[in-house]
Amino acid sequence: MRRILVTGALGQIGSELVPALRERYGNENVVASDIRMPTGQDGADGPFEYVDCQRLHQIEVVLRRYDIDTIYHLAAVLSAVAETKPMVAWDVNMGSVYQVVEAARQHGCAVFHPSSIGAFGPTTPRDHTPQDTIQRPTTMYGITKVAAELLCDYYASRFRVDTRGVRLPGLVSYVAPPGGGTTDYAVAIFHEAVRHRHYTCYLRADSTLDFMYMPDAVRAMIEIMEADPGRLTHRNAYNITAMSATPASLTAAIRKYIPDFVIDYDIDPARQAIADSWPNSLDDSLARLDWDWAPRFDLDAMTADMLENIARRTKTARWGGGGRYAD
Ligand code: NAD
Ligand code: SER
Repeated sequence: MRRILVTGALGQIGSELVPALRERYGNENVVASDIRMPTGQDGADGPFEYVDCQRLHQIEVVLRRYDIDTIYHLAAVLSAVAETKPMVAWDVNMGSVYQVVEAARQHGCAVFHPSSIGAFGPTTPRDHTPQDTIQRPTTMYGITKVAAELLCDYYASRFRVDTRGVRLPGLVSYVAPPGGGTTDYAVAIFHEAVRHRHYTCYLRADSTLDFMYMPDAVRAMIEIMEADPGRLTHRNAYNITAMSATPASLTAAIRKYIPDFVIDYDIDPARQAIADSWPNSLDDSLARLDWDWAPRFDLDAMTADMLENIARRTKTARWGGGGRYAD
């Protein structure tokens, strides 16, 4: 049975990864950690520790106390916030991943690290972006993601640390809010559609990016860590994706359920520039070949599930017959 530490566990991903890991490996075997403290029932079903993962000692104390063998390292500053605070983003993203792989080396732990579509840049082939290709990102977030991919590969080849990872697309979820990324619109659009039937989008209607529904992303993060190492031709940064979408295509998908949903646009030049530097779609065929990766949610399935769950949680709308929302 694995004994797992999750860093940055109170964020968008950790809020769903921790419960999934606890269901699989047992509540007491999954330690959630963050530099924020949980509120309400967050994480109440298992251990929580304050861990600033820029501090090696704080990581090591928890590794020893719980006899941890696997670290899911989620703590980071996301792309849009990183462009407003690039020095902070460098310190947090690079400082934390370095301390985590070093702690893992000293304590014999495996490490999961999530890279991103942000690890690509404007000179990367935009469509069906290959697994191995040009990586010259023009954002601080992207720079830290490429450096972290390389650092994790280095610790695997030089020190035999079992580092593994995926390049995640923008993640869509209803459980926890996103933490300040360029793809956050794809979460907000669903909440606003249910609550107000109106959303003002900060990206152009035709901005094309890859997305994935959180249940698929959580499953990918567990499957890559459980994959047969003998089949893995890469250690880190497998491209994975579920769909390529735009604000316009998300709007069309939502209108199947909320026909009077209205979108308008007030472009944020900073986030538009980041989006314009990222691929339109990733080629994830190597992940499919090496560890049988396959998404289960396409755009329509994700849209139906998001709208139903947001309506249920907000209680401002109810799921009407015939697959439509009614007040
Ligand atoms: P998030 O912003 O929602 O959560 C990050 C968490 O890290 C926060 O709870 C924050 O308090 C914590 N944190 C920040 N600094 C810390 C530190 N020094 N020590 C400990 N905790 C700290 O982010 P997320 O969306 O959950 O993303 C997790 C990881 O996945 C990040 O590496 C991100 O780059 C990557 N990723 C996310 C997406 C996405 O769409 N959410 C897509 C691609 C990659
Ligand atoms: N969703 C993330 C962001 O927009 C992608 O890594 O920052």
